[in-house]
Amino acid sequence: MADLRENIARVLLTEEEIQSKVAEMAAQISEDYRDKQLLLVGILKGSMVFMADLMRRLSINAKIDFMSVSSYGSSTVSSGQVRIILDLKRPIENYDLLLVEDILDSGATLSYLKELLTARQPKSIRIATLLDKPDRRNPEHNLTVDYHCFKIPDEFVVGYGLDFAEKYRNLPDIGVLDSRVYGAAHE
Ligand code: IMP
Ligand code: MG
Repeated sequence: MADLRENIARVLLTEEEIQSKVAEMAAQISEDYRDKQLLLVGILKGSMVFMADLMRRLSINAKIDFMSVSSYGSSTVSSGQVRIILDLKRPIENYDLLLVEDILDSGATLSYLKELLTARQPKSIRIATLLDKPDRRNPEHNLTVDYHCFKIPDEFVVGYGLDFAEKYRNLPDIGVLDSRVYGAAHE
């Protein structure tokens, strides 16, 4: 089996940096949702590591659920097409939703999901993302990010849940993938 770090050009965010920012975000969310009915909705699979750390740092009660949508195949460029693979199990009218995502790129995935879930009339709906790549945002999506841990440059990153072709999710830190791995596909 190939070494996990073989195609990692450099570490962008260390475990310590990630943990410290996740703790800060959890403290803010705990304050903001003290009198609310918080339902964390993790977007699979990329958000799972972030979700696991974030929820364990909250000092308030929270329920969790997951959705799965298709975005990228093994390419690094979003198709813009979003398909629901797994939906929520319960109605959400009585909940304050916080969508938990690994990375916000064009914004296509989250703007689609936010619209879909808003139609189900939750009490409120906000977005918490670990990473934000503002340079890649498609302004048409007009998306507000309520909580983010890091703004990062336009580079393809993996680890801490984020993948390239389903690999590298188990890296404990976040690294920049060597561009030779995906060639010119990432515009
Ligand atoms: P968007 O719909 O264009 O905002 O894309 C969001 C999704 O693209 C994320 O949930 C990731 O699965 C994927 N993605 C975008 N940029 C990266 C990256 O740098 N590394 C890994 N996945 C990424
Ligand atoms: Mg992905």
